[in-house]
Amino acid sequence: MAGRIPQSFINDLLARTDIVDVIDARVPLKKAGRDYKARCPFHEEKTPSFHVVPDKQFYHCFGCQASGTALTFLMEYDGLEFVEAVETLARLAGVEVPREADRGGPSGGDQSRLYDVLARAERFYRSRLKTSSAAVAYLKARGLTGVVARDFAIGYAPDGWHTIQEAFSADKEVREADLLAAGLLTRNEKGNVYDRFRDRIMFPIRDTRGRVIGFGGRVMGDADGPKYLNSPETPVFHKGRELYGLFEARNALRRIDQLIVVEGYMDVVALSQAGVANAVASLGTSATAEHFQKLYRYCEEVVCCFDGDAAGRRAAWKALENALPTLTDGRQLKFMFLPEGEDPDSLVRREGKKAFRNRIGQALPAIEYLFSELGSGLDLRQLDGQARLASLVMPHIEKVPQGVLKQLMKNRLTQLTGLSADAAEGKIRTAAKRVQSASVELLTPLTRRLLSGLLRVPEALQTLPAELRVEVVRHADHDIFAEIVKYIDENPDTDRSELVGRWAGQPVGAELARLADAPHSLPESAVAQELRDGLESYVSGKAREARQRALKDLKESPSAEKLRALQSLRPSSPHSVPEAGSNSD
Ligand code: UTP
Ligand code: MN
Repeated sequence: MAGRIPQSFINDLLARTDIVDVIDARVPLKKAGRDYKARCPFHEEKTPSFHVVPDKQFYHCFGCQASGTALTFLMEYDGLEFVEAVETLARLAGVEVPREADRGGPSGGDQSRLYDVLARAERFYRSRLKTSSAAVAYLKARGLTGVVARDFAIGYAPDGWHTIQEAFSADKEVREADLLAAGLLTRNEKGNVYDRFRDRIMFPIRDTRGRVIGFGGRVMGDADGPKYLNSPETPVFHKGRELYGLFEARNALRRIDQLIVVEGYMDVVALSQAGVANAVASLGTSATAEHFQKLYRYCEEVVCCFDGDAAGRRAAWKALENALPTLTDGRQLKFMFLPEGEDPDSLVRREGKKAFRNRIGQALPAIEYLFSELGSGLDLRQLDGQARLASLVMPHIEKVPQGVLKQLMKNRLTQLTGLSADAAEGKIRTAAKRVQSASVELLTPLTRRLLSGLLRVPEALQTLPAELRVEVVRHADHDIFAEIVKYIDENPDTDRSELVGRWAGQPVGAELARLADAPHSLPESAVAQELRDGLESYVSGKAREARQRALKDLKESPSAEKLRALQSLRPSSPHSVPEAGSNSD
């Protein structure tokens, strides 16, 4: 990355700039006394309440309270990043942007070389699309028109190991080092340099100024290797920050009221072709806080659109968690889940634009989504269900900036848990603490180890005696481990990712995800035996707990009935399974 821009330069730049010129070029201003006025560009209004004050080099809207300097105006109005806004002002002032001394890494000069080779590569790939009948046929078969392929500058990387170098061999401007740094070439362990993208449909990724910063390349058909190959992180390309299609959306729309975040390149392109030009995609990562900050610079409403499958639900939850800190007043976030097996591309082709827009119109507000996910499976008529909900929701409420949404979330929690509005926060906090310490013990070391095996080899459960499984499953209503075993028992075809997805967003979810990723110490063949031993000790442990509870209860308020109940809970030897029903008379 280039060095920081010195603050002294920014101060100088603002001193040289006249805010009136900058704003007047975008929003025509009228003189009003010593100030200037206009209808506010940041909210709808009939009479002007947007003031520009040359003396103070400041703007302020008395309607929507927007205010700032020439820099913030460019960021808000043109949708620029801070650095881009500085560069724009510097160009107006006719000065170079200095950078503080670098700690390694290429300088600003090298970055412009990267933009240059990336732009050349984009043109090269586009020219090769024209001459590849297979690539054109592939795009046609997927229903793309020439117009949309042009708008998104879609290209084709030929099948070869050195096409990029050959294409630019005559060009002294293009150096191998730059092609490598831009991620167009790659180098293997032996030191050989070759094309990263071979025989792939190429989707250029552009920054908000339209410069190509990277590519996504799709195999045609089901060739082996990854379906999409993306540019690596480079000095100009950072996956967690960029959104595919944002530049194209800004180009296509005069005004953006809403942005839809989808998962794939093809989704963005297909939606655009269908007339839904306001879709963007995060690049194979879930949407980050940086993504949301960027999205909310362009509009107030973001709709996250995800597949209805387990992976989609997981990605949606992650996106929600990342978005919460960015939800200041006025910003809206919604979620929409697609029917199983569909993505926006397939859906908009099948149902058309209107039906797709209808679905967007019915998207779930973030607060609804949050409460329904966290509340699922809880009995809110019971005190412990209410306390559990409070403990799950509070950490999320805390992430939301002061404002209306935060208040709404608190109100909703109060409403659902019955905790009085005034005392809510304190009580919720204590309740949350109590339950949080309980939820740490959702899994014991034993059940954690068993789950680790089960996640890997769910089918091993079926090899165990039915009585043992029945004994475990009996605890499903009050123990999450037994609940998971029950599910696996009833769905023998399940697999690791489905299991992780099913409990995502619930207290045990993070732990399951961790277990699924962690290496397992036993070979698969040994999992069944470990399960058998482990489930037996689980069952006898539960029986012991039940006896202790009954004994305690008997001591606190003795009765003949309780004594009989205790006697019926006969201890069983740790290595034999109690018969089903042995503790009911
Ligand atoms: P999908 O598998 O949903 O692909 O991945 P898609 O966009 O529907 O693609 P088509 O319709 O099969 O062409 C969604 C996104 O995840 C990233 C890409 O950004 C892709 O658009 N991805 C997917 C990868 O980076 N690598 C992969 O191998 C697969
Ligand atoms: Mn698709």
